[in-house]
Amino acid sequence: MARSFFLLYSLSRRRVSDSPRSLFFIPTALALTTSLFILFYISSTSNLFTPHRHYNSRFHFLQNPSEFSLKTHNLQTPIEDQPQSGLISDPPMPNLGPPADHAGAAKPSPSSNGINVENENVFHDRDMFEEDYIKMNSTFKIFVYPHQRSDPYANVLLPVDYEPEGNYASESFFKKSLNNSHFVTKDPSKADLFYLPFSIARLRHDPRVGIDGIQDFIKEYIFNISHKYPYWNRTGGADHFYVSCHSIGRVAVNKADEVKRNAIQVVCSSSYFQSAYVPHKDASLPQIWPRLQDDPPTITSSQRKNLAFFAGSINSPVRQKLVETWQNNTQISVHWGHLNTSYEAALLDSKFCLHVKGFAVNTARIGDAFYHGCVPVIIANHYDLPFADILNWKSFSIIIATLDIPSLQRILTSISNDEFAKLHENVLDVRKHFRWHAVPVDYDAFYMVMYELWLRRSSIRVIGFH
Ligand SMILES: *[C@@H]1O[C@H](CO)[C@@H](O)[C@H](O)[C@H]1NC(C)=O
Ligand SMILES: *[C@@H]1O[C@H](CO)[C@@H](O)[C@H](O)[C@H]1NC(C)=O
Ligand SMILES: *[C@@H]1O[C@H](CO)[C@@H](O)[C@H](O)[C@H]1NC(C)=O
Ligand SMILES: *[C@@H]1O[C@H](CO)[C@@H](O)[C@H](O)[C@H]1NC(C)=O
Ligand SMILES: *[C@@H]1O[C@H](CO)[C@@H](O)[C@H](O)[C@H]1NC(C)=O
Ligand SMILES: *[C@@H]1O[C@H](CO)[C@@H](O)[C@H](O)[C@H]1NC(C)=O
Repeated sequence: MARSFFLLYSLSRRRVSDSPRSLFFIPTALALTTSLFILFYISSTSNLFTPHRHYNSRFHFLQNPSEFSLKTHNLQTPIEDQPQSGLISDPPMPNLGPPADHAGAAKPSPSSNGINVENENVFHDRDMFEEDYIKMNSTFKIFVYPHQRSDPYANVLLPVDYEPEGNYASESFFKKSLNNSHFVTKDPSKADLFYLPFSIARLRHDPRVGIDGIQDFIKEYIFNISHKYPYWNRTGGADHFYVSCHSIGRVAVNKADEVKRNAIQVVCSSSYFQSAYVPHKDASLPQIWPRLQDDPPTITSSQRKNLAFFAGSINSPVRQKLVETWQNNTQISVHWGHLNTSYEAALLDSKFCLHVKGFAVNTARIGDAFYHGCVPVIIANHYDLPFADILNWKSFSIIIATLDIPSLQRILTSISNDEFAKLHENVLDVRKHFRWHAVPVDYDAFYMVMYELWLRRSSIRVIGFH
């Protein structure tokens, strides 16, 4: 950029010295170069000139795999980073306390406390979404690699035949819902995408595999399907995807380079600080504690007594900072250990519910907040929020950088009742997208994930393989 500026500048100078008459050009040339310089500068620093949506940008990675691996080379997450069994437990059922989860390091990201919810639509473009959704719903086809009940790894590869439970239920819900949906095709030539049905959560608990064996298992699985079927080799896995909610997913594919580089990873721990996660290629899966029975309770915005609520173990520097700053505050209630009141009652009684990065950027707290009509406050730098390319998170959440934890009270109290009422209304509007159902319902979490996949379906069809 700077070089082109000087090039233009010296060109204009040369002209000037050629003939006195061209002195006339000095101001013009200078003005021209300056405007060019400014344009260059703006285009390189702002996203004004780049399209808002980056559909099918995965193509880039396919063409330049080496460039991509270069970028990510130094950022491997060591497997020792994984939570110890004591650190992680499933979140307790209602009334027992807050969800437990992981601890990790925080990295700064730009702050965004300019709150302005007026005229904010929950969709970036609702009309476009609805139009696309109908197309997706009627044409999208997935080929699921078939496995028999007699397969020794059937427990890992087939959908469960009970209602999924617990912190990582999103993974099982997706597989089960897909298995029973109209998106599945038995004819691979009709498929837009291919599903790798291994469950990372189940591999973790399988004594034959375990945490240490997951990487080898996935490598072997890819070896198997790429030898038995022609589909993987056609695109190096670019029209394949897997779904995982456990944060170990981010290192599970470390020995299967093509999965990491080319396949679509639909994961809960969608941090764009992680080398293994590539926004736009990969997709964020919402972590949702399943609540199938009841309709979500509705408590109006004005009935909520507490300003903000957080409960959870203090297992990360970000949470440590939150506790240090706000533990004695009467408006922001921060709890660790056991709660006197029920977790659900607290979520129902609070205006804002804090989602604070622990071990990973994701927890079930955002889903919990939505379900209870509480406006989520997200303090998890680098979290690629679920469905962020469809939904306008600014309209139904408050996103705060870790560095701004000391300003939390000021930020939340500066939100007027009208602004809060709008945020709350939008929460009630979007929460249907963050629910799983035994039988999927239009626009619920299952369909939203399908839509994310549809946006990422490959336009690459290698000619000559049909
Ligand atoms: C999506 O497809 C399902 C199954 O064909 C159908 O029941 C549902 O009405 C469709 N939804 C929309 C919005 O078209
Ligand atoms: C998966 O789909 C197959 C075929 O459509 C069906 O027979 C099977 O019961 C389904 N499995 C589960 C666990 O729903
Ligand atoms: C790969 O295939 C071999 C031979 O069929 C089988 O024994 C093994 O369990 C398979 N491994 C995986 C991870 O699917
Ligand atoms: C896919 O590529 C691998 C590695 O080049 C090769 O060994 C394998 O035979 C190929 N698979 C098929 C089905 O041709
Ligand atoms: C909160 O209260 C405890 C107990 O009174 C005290 O030890 C601690 O320093 C206080 N923390 C802050 C941040 O004021
Ligand atoms: C919980 O109850 C105990 C005993 O009633 C009380 O001392 C404590 O302050 C309460 N804690 C909270 C967070 O309300």
